[in-house]
Amino acid sequence: MAIQYLALTALIVLYSLMFIGGYISAAGLGLTCPEWPLCPNGVMPSEEYFIEWTHRLVAATTGMLIIATMIASLINKNADLKIKITSSLASALVVTQITLGALVIDTKLHAVLVAIHLGIGIWLFAMVLLTVLFAFRISKSSKPITT
Ligand code: HEM
Repeated sequence: MAIQYLALTALIVLYSLMFIGGYISAAGLGLTCPEWPLCPNGVMPSEEYFIEWTHRLVAATTGMLIIATMIASLINKNADLKIKITSSLASALVVTQITLGALVIDTKLHAVLVAIHLGIGIWLFAMVLLTVLFAFRISKSSKPITT
């Protein structure tokens, strides 16, 4: 039960993160916060860095949710192997994606790295979506059949 709702929350938060990322890219706000991991004024948000700051905060939240889903699936003996695999792949991808985010800033939005950032984001979304689908389908099919 916990795995399903953890994975679903991760999916919703991840979708919002990708939406914010698309907005940053389209609006040309990618370098509003030029430092990593924190913006020049530290951990607190401020108007000039707000969108980038939000992207990083939501990225950290997404990372924690995806890793928590993986841990929950690995320690749950009843969790299906498919969930363990997709949630582990999602965790590897989220760590890669956050590291890549730092490189995107470091290289001042190198076009190839921004394109890879989008590509990995899509793979990540696919893995979390599969985790949600497997988690809900398995819980549905394991309900006792009442006729
Ligand atoms: C789970 C983590 C993350 C996901 C899923 C994610 C996803 C995305 C997506 C989908 C975009 C839009 C790309 C495009 O339209 O071409 C984007 C843009 C961006 N992301 Fe992330 N991101 C993540 C973490 C980070 C982190 C940690 C940073 C570090 C600062 C970062 C920095 C950026 C920047 C600077 C852009 C704008 C690039 C530009 O201006 O073209 N991202 N992100």
